[in-house]
Amino acid sequence: MREKLELLERRRAESELGGGEARVKAQHDKGKLSARERLDALLDDGSFVELDRFVTHRSTDFGLDETRPYGDGVVTGHGRIDGRIVYVFSQDFTVFGGSLSEAHAGKICKVMDLAVQNGAPVIGLNDSGGARIQEGVVSLGGYADIFLRNTLASGVVPQISAILGPCAGGAVYSPAITDFVYMVRGTSYMFVTGPNVVKTVTHEDVTMEALGGADAHGGTSGVSHFTMASELECLEGIRQLLRFIPGNNVDAPPRGAGTDPRDRRDEALLDLIPDSSSKPYDMRDVLRRVVDDGEFLEVHKDFAQNILCGFAHLGGYAVGIVANQPAVLAGVLDIDASVKAARFIRFCDAFNIPLVTFEDVPGFLPGTAQEHGGIIRHGAKLLYAYCEATVPKLTIITRKAYGGAYDVMSSKHIRGDVNLAWPTAEIAVMGPKGAVEILFKKEITDARDPQKAMDARVAEYTEKFANPYVAAGRGYVDDIIDPRDTRPLLIDALDTLQGKRMRNPPKKHGCIPL
Ligand code: HXC
Repeated sequence: MREKLELLERRRAESELGGGEARVKAQHDKGKLSARERLDALLDDGSFVELDRFVTHRSTDFGLDETRPYGDGVVTGHGRIDGRIVYVFSQDFTVFGGSLSEAHAGKICKVMDLAVQNGAPVIGLNDSGGARIQEGVVSLGGYADIFLRNTLASGVVPQISAILGPCAGGAVYSPAITDFVYMVRGTSYMFVTGPNVVKTVTHEDVTMEALGGADAHGGTSGVSHFTMASELECLEGIRQLLRFIPGNNVDAPPRGAGTDPRDRRDEALLDLIPDSSSKPYDMRDVLRRVVDDGEFLEVHKDFAQNILCGFAHLGGYAVGIVANQPAVLAGVLDIDASVKAARFIRFCDAFNIPLVTFEDVPGFLPGTAQEHGGIIRHGAKLLYAYCEATVPKLTIITRKAYGGAYDVMSSKHIRGDVNLAWPTAEIAVMGPKGAVEILFKKEITDARDPQKAMDARVAEYTEKFANPYVAAGRGYVDDIIDPRDTRPLLIDALDTLQGKRMRNPPKKHGCIPL
C-alpha cells in the first residue's frame, strides 16, 4: 500500500507541473498567473477539489504521442466562493498553449454537466490558443460539445467567463454565450479573426489590444461586461459578483450582509435633481443613496453609459437595477442601451432577482444612424424583456418619463408591480417644447411676439402635463412620494412581493426580436 501511495503522490505532483518551469516562467513574465494560481485566487482557501487530473489526450499525430501531460491543458473541478459551491475550469497555457483537444473538451463538459445537475454556477478561466491544431475536426467537435452545453445551461445556472489570455476564432463563442465576460487590460484578447487576417482582408493595421483587448470589448463592442486592471482584480471581481446571484434558477439570490437600516431616509435626495429639467445629474448618486451601504456593482460600466445596469442589496434583498443616466446623452435610449439593459433584465428574470428601475428618460434617440441601425428592432428587445419578466418589478420615476420610453421602462401597463414617482416627475407623450411646437405651430408663427406666445403655451403644457399627477390620477403610478422615503418604500415593496407568483402562458420559447 505504501508504495502505491508514493506512486500516487508522485503522479499527483507531476500532474501539477503543467508545461514545466520554463513555460510557467514565460507565463509569469507576461504578467499572467498559472492555471492553478488563478484557481487559488478565485476559490476559498483549500476548497478546490480537482477532477480528471490524470486525463491525457488520445492523439498520435505530429509527435503528440511523445508528450501526454496529465490534465491535458485544463484544470477542472469544484470549489467554494464564500462557502457556496461553484464548478470551474482553468485552461493551462503552458500545456500546448491551452489548446482544446477532445480530452480537454471532455473535462470541461463534465464540470458543466455537474454544474447543471447540482445547480451551481460554472466559472471558466480561458487562456487558450484555440482548437488543438493536431487534432483537427475532433477538436472542433469538442468546441461544439461545449457550445451546446453553454446554451442548455443558459438560464439554469449562471455562467461566468474570464478571458485571461488569447481567445480567438470560433472559441470566442463559448464565452459569448455565457452570462458575464471579464477581461484584463493588456493580457486578454478576443477576436474572430486576428490582426494578420484583418490586414489581408481589409488592409487595416490594428493591434491585438485595439482589435480585441479589454477596453475594445468593454467599451465599444459590449462583448465584455467587466474590464479589469489585473488578473487578481478580475478573480476578486468574480467573487464579488457571486454575492448577488443565486446558484441556479430555482434558488433565491443570496441575502446581503450589510447593516444599513431599512428605514434610513436620505435628506440629500431632495437636492439631487437640478431645478432646470434640461440639466444633467449623475443617477449613480441617487442609486448609492438608496441601496444598502451605497454599494452598486455595475455591469457593462463602460458600454452604453446612458443606461446603468448593476446589482445591489436593498434591505438585504439582492436586486438588479436598471437606471437611465441623465449625465450621458441626457439618458436617452439608443441601440446599445436597449440591448445592454434587455440582456441584464433577462438574466435577472431568469435567476429570480427583482428588478428596480430608476427612470429619467427623454425618449429614444432620433437620427438616421439609429433608425438605419435598427433602433426599432433593438428597442423592441428592451420592451420585450421588461414585458416578459415575472420577477418583482419596482419603478421610481425621478424626472422624465416621455413617449414610448415611458411605456418601456417597467411601466404599470407592462406589469410593473410598484410604480412610484417623485414630485419632480414629468410623465407625458413628449416634452413641453416639442409638444407646443406641434400643437400650436400656426398660433405661434402668426403671433406678434412668437417667443412670448411660445413661452405661454409651454407654461400651460408644463402645468397640465409635465408632472406626475395625470398618471397618478389614472393609477399608472401607485403614489407620488417624498424622495427621502425612496429606500424604505422600496424595501417595504420587496417585502410584500416575496410571495409573488406569476407565470407567462406556456410556450416552447418566445420569439424575442433578435
Ligand atoms: C496546438 C498550440 C496551439 C494550437 C498554441 N500552441 N496554439 N498547439 N494547437 N491551437 C502551442 C504552440 O505550438 C507552443 O508550443 C505553445 O502552444 C505556446 O504558443 P506560442 O505561439 O509560443 O505562444 P504565443 O507566442 O504567446 O502565441 C499565442 C498564440 C499563438 C497567439 C495563441 O500560439 C497562436 O496564434 N496559436 C494558434 C491560434 C489559432 O489559430 N488557433 C486556432 C483558432 S481556430 P511550444 O511547444 O512551442 O511551447 C479555433 C476554432 C475553434 O480555435 C472552433 C470553434 C468553432
